[in-house]
Amino acid sequence: MKMVSRLFNLEGKVIIVAGGAGQIGFSFCEILTDAGAQVILADLDLELASEKLQILNKSNNITLFKLDVTDELSVKHLFEKVRHQYGSIYGLVNSFHYKGNSRRLDTTSNFFAPLESYPMEAWDAVSDVNLKGTFLMCRESVPYFRENKEGVIVNVSSTYGNVSPNKSIYGETGINSPVSYAATKAGIINLTRYIATHYASDNIRANVLSPGGVYNQQSPGFIENYCRLTPLGRMAEPEDYQGAIVYLMSPGSKYMTGANLVVDGGWTAW
Ligand SMILES: NC(=O)c1ccc[n+]([C@@H]2O[C@H](COP(=O)([O-])OP(=O)(O)OC[C@H]3O[C@@H](n4cnc5c(N)ncnc54)[C@H](O)[C@@H]3O)[C@@H](O)[C@H]2O)c1
Repeated sequence: MKMVSRLFNLEGKVIIVAGGAGQIGFSFCEILTDAGAQVILADLDLELASEKLQILNKSNNITLFKLDVTDELSVKHLFEKVRHQYGSIYGLVNSFHYKGNSRRLDTTSNFFAPLESYPMEAWDAVSDVNLKGTFLMCRESVPYFRENKEGVIVNVSSTYGNVSPNKSIYGETGINSPVSYAATKAGIINLTRYIATHYASDNIRANVLSPGGVYNQQSPGFIENYCRLTPLGRMAEPEDYQGAIVYLMSPGSKYMTGANLVVDGGWTAW
């Protein structure tokens, strides 16, 4: 095997991708299975996951599991079932965020309210998924990684976990990036550092991937504003993060833990 293939080889590794039905999450599943992994696509929305899996017109090693990351028992059962079915667990990617009750967030909801009137219910709902969900998934993974004598965690944050949202790009649409998202995405970064430093001696690595915005039928005005503030001059396609996830999951990054890999077209560089 060529050195470069060995470096990024994930043959037979069992990797859970939580939020794997999402835009970025599903492209993670595609590339990880391509690198040889047995991927467990775990998501609240199995209908969406099945639709995407059907479109993926090639044989693959992706198995669907229902998961609610806010529910301790659901998280526990996922790990038990995967361990039972596949014998070991090597990796965990936490790639979910609060989406509201529908597939697309209700733009009339108070999710987008400004800080001074931000409702506690919205704060709690977002924190439950983004931060508590990431905590529960990481907590549950540790004994399985110890048993496997190796484990790799990638927690997905965001540009807005690193810097504040730039409110000038949203115009008068009523849509923005709220305080709950920024705060929880920042929390994920230090949660990951905590895991990295406290579990390095168990051969568990934990890193953050901070993506920038992905094209997703946003208004032309928003896209124009976003691109103007991005040195590479465009928003991302989900595939733009595939190299990063293979790197972070594979032996290619074996000396890397507690780090935050920012892949944002340069947004945070100026
Ligand atoms: N798409 C972007 O522009 C962008 C930019 C920066 C960061 N991110 C981050 O990247 C990650 C992936 O984003 P995406 O674009 O794939 O998001 P997405 O909205 O397309 O998908 C999110 C997935 O999370 C799942 N989910 C929501 N609540 C859940 C729960 N309680 N339990 C289990 N699954 C649940 C949803 O069903 C959905 O499949 C997220 O952490 C997001 O914050 C995305």
